[in-house]
Amino acid sequence: MVQKSNINTPVIDAVSEIKNRLDIVDVISEHIALKKSGRNYWGCCPFHKEKTPSFSVSPDKGIFKCFGCGVGGDAISFLMKINNNTFYEVIVEQAQKFGIPIQTQNFSPEKTEIKNQILEVNQEAVRFFNKLLLDVPEAAKARDYLFKRNITEEVIEKFKIGYSLNSYDSLISHFCNCHPERSEGSVQTGINAYTPNGTDSSAMPQNDKLDLLYKAGLVSERTNGKGYLDRFRGRIMIPIQDEKGDFIAFGARALEDNQNPKYLNSPDTPVFNKSRSLFALYQAKQSIKEQDSVIIMEGFFDVISAHTHGLTNVVATLGTALTEQHIKILARYSDSRRIYLAFDSDEAGINATDRGAEIIKSVFSGLGDIKQFDENFAEMSDKNNRAVCEIRVISNITGKDPDEFIRTEGLDAYKKVVNQAPLLIDYQINRIMKSKEKTQTPQEKSKVIQDLIPILSDIKNSIIRNEYIKLISEKLMIDEESLNIEIKKSLQKVIKKEKILNQGKRQNLEENHISAQKNLLSLYFLNSEKLSPLCINNYLEEVNFTEENISLIKNEISKSLKEITDPEKLSNELFTKLAENEEAKKILVDVICLVDEKKGMNTSSLEQYIKDHIAFLRRCVLSEQQNKLKTQYYASNKDDISSLEQQQLVKELILQSKSEV
Ligand code: GTP
Ligand code: MN
Repeated sequence: MVQKSNINTPVIDAVSEIKNRLDIVDVISEHIALKKSGRNYWGCCPFHKEKTPSFSVSPDKGIFKCFGCGVGGDAISFLMKINNNTFYEVIVEQAQKFGIPIQTQNFSPEKTEIKNQILEVNQEAVRFFNKLLLDVPEAAKARDYLFKRNITEEVIEKFKIGYSLNSYDSLISHFCNCHPERSEGSVQTGINAYTPNGTDSSAMPQNDKLDLLYKAGLVSERTNGKGYLDRFRGRIMIPIQDEKGDFIAFGARALEDNQNPKYLNSPDTPVFNKSRSLFALYQAKQSIKEQDSVIIMEGFFDVISAHTHGLTNVVATLGTALTEQHIKILARYSDSRRIYLAFDSDEAGINATDRGAEIIKSVFSGLGDIKQFDENFAEMSDKNNRAVCEIRVISNITGKDPDEFIRTEGLDAYKKVVNQAPLLIDYQINRIMKSKEKTQTPQEKSKVIQDLIPILSDIKNSIIRNEYIKLISEKLMIDEESLNIEIKKSLQKVIKKEKILNQGKRQNLEENHISAQKNLLSLYFLNSEKLSPLCINNYLEEVNFTEENISLIKNEISKSLKEITDPEKLSNELFTKLAENEEAKKILVDVICLVDEKKGMNTSSLEQYIKDHIAFLRRCVLSEQQNKLKTQYYASNKDDISSLEQQQLVKELILQSKSEV
C-alpha cells in the first residue's frame, strides 16, 4: 500500500532506485516462460500471437525486444505494457513493493489509488468474516460444517476462512456504520471501522464508501436499482490472495443444499482477474519451489484439504479453465516446470485436462519439447536438451475428488498416486485405448486411430514413436505399416505449417539509411575510453537524422550529456524520458542492441566507421532529394522545354550530382 509519508523522495530519484532493484529477467519471467540461450533469454512474445519465440531479454543491457512485432524497452516499459499502466502507475507500484517512499501528493493517478483502496477494503472484509466465523452464535452451523470437513482452526487461520451472515447489510453496516444498533454485538468488538489509507473513515462520505465496496465486488446493486446489498450472505468465505499475499477476492461456498449457486466468487475487479489468479498460490509458492513441481486441482476444498494434510505444492483455478497466464505464473516457481493436472475424473474433468494440457503446451511451444518419456527411457534422452516442461495427470483415484480421496484414504495414499502419475502422453494414449477396448469393426478401429494419430505424431523422438506404434498396432490388431504411413502424413502437415510460419518472419528488413542512423546513435552507448559519448556527440553534430524518433532520441541524448556521461545511466535516463513514447522506445532498444557488434573495434576503425556512415547518410539524403526533383521534373510540363520551372530543376539536379562526388 502506498504509504502517505512525509519523506519527499522526488519521483525521479525513486525511478533510478527502482531500476537498480528491478531484474528484467525476473520481471519478465513473471509473465512469460523464458529459456536461456547464450547471454540472452528467449520466449514467446506476450504482445502478439506467435508459436516460435522471437522475444528476447538481455539481462546485460536491461532491455527486451521482440523480433516479431518490434516491441522493446526496459523493465518498466514491459510492466507498463503488460499491465496496461502508465509510467507513473508502474513507478508507484514498484516503489511500494520495494518500500521506497515517494512523494505522491502532486500526482495521484486514480487507477493505483483505487486498487489500494480495494485491497484495504478486502483486507478489512477478511478480518470481519473471519471474526464472525470464530465468534458469533449465528456461525455455529458454519463452524460445524468446516469441522465435518476436517478443517481445523489452524487451517482456518492459515487461509483466513470466514463466514458471511445471512443478512442483506451486515457487511455494509460494518463499513458504513449506518446501523448503530447492530454494532453493539460481539461482531464489531475489536474490529476498527474501515479506514482507507490510514485516514479517518468518517472523512469518506457514505456514498463513496458504498461505491468502493461495490468496486471491490463485496456488495451488489439491489434489483430495484436503489442502493446496495451484501453480495455474500450465509456463506463460508474463502479469501483469495495474490502472490504477494494481498487479498484480491473471495470464493464463497453455500452452506445450505438449496442455496444457489454452490460457489459464488467475487466478480473481476481492478485487483482481481480470474484468469490470472490461482487459489492458494501464496501459501503454495515456497513449496512449489522446493518440490520443483505443482499440482493443479479443481476446487477450493481440494486444495485446502491437501494443505491441511501437509501436501502444500497445490493450487486451484477459480472455477475457470486453466489459462496461459496461470501457467506462465506457475512456470516461475518450478525450474523443471513439472505440472500435475489433478482434475476430477468425471467427463468435465477429463475435458479440462485435455484443454489444460493444450494450454500448457502452447505456452512452452517453441521453447523446447515437453517431456515425452519416462526415466526408463532416459538413456534415449539427449542430456543437453532437457525437456522444457513436464505434464503429468493424476486421474486414477477412487472417490469423487482429491479432497474426498485424501480425507478417506490419507495423504500417503495420495502421494503414492502423485508419484505414479503418468506423463500426459501415456495418460492420453491409455485413455483412448481403454475407452475403446472392445473395438471390433474396421470402422471402430479407424476411429480409434484417428484419435491416436495427433498424439503419436506429436512424439518428437522417433524411436519412442515407433515403440508406441508397435504396441498400439499389436493391441488393436492392425497393420503396423499402415499406421506408420498415416502418422508420416500427419507429421508432414505439421512440418509444412511450421515452414510457412518461419517465412513470414524475415520480411521486416529495415531500410538501410534508417539502420545507419541507428548504428551511429549506438556509439553513444559504447563504453569506449577514447570515444566518450561527448566525443561522439561532436562527430554527430552535423548529421541530419531524418527519422522523427531517431532525431528525438539524438536530441534527448545531447541534452542529457550535460549531466550524464555513463552509457548505462544514459540509457536509463532515456527510457524514463521516453517512457510514454512507445515507438521511440522501440528504436532506442534497436540502438542499444547495435552496440555489441562494435565492441571489438579499435579507435581508428571506429572513427573510420563513423566517417563512412556519415558520408553514407549524406548520400542517402541527397539521393532522396534527387528522387524528389526527378519526380517533379517528370511531372512538369515537358513539352515546354524552356519553362523556367524545368530549367531550375535541371540545374538543381546537376548541382546535386556534383556535390555527390
Ligand atoms: P465441495 O462440494 O465443496 O467439495 O466442492 P467441490 O470443489 O468438490 O465442487 P465441484 O467439484 O462441484 O467444483 C469444483 C470447483 O468449481 C469449485 O471449487 C469452484 O471453484 C467451482 N464451482 C463449483 N460450483 C460452482 C458454482 O456454482 N459457481 C461457480 N462460480 N463456481 C463453481
Ligand atoms: Mn469436493
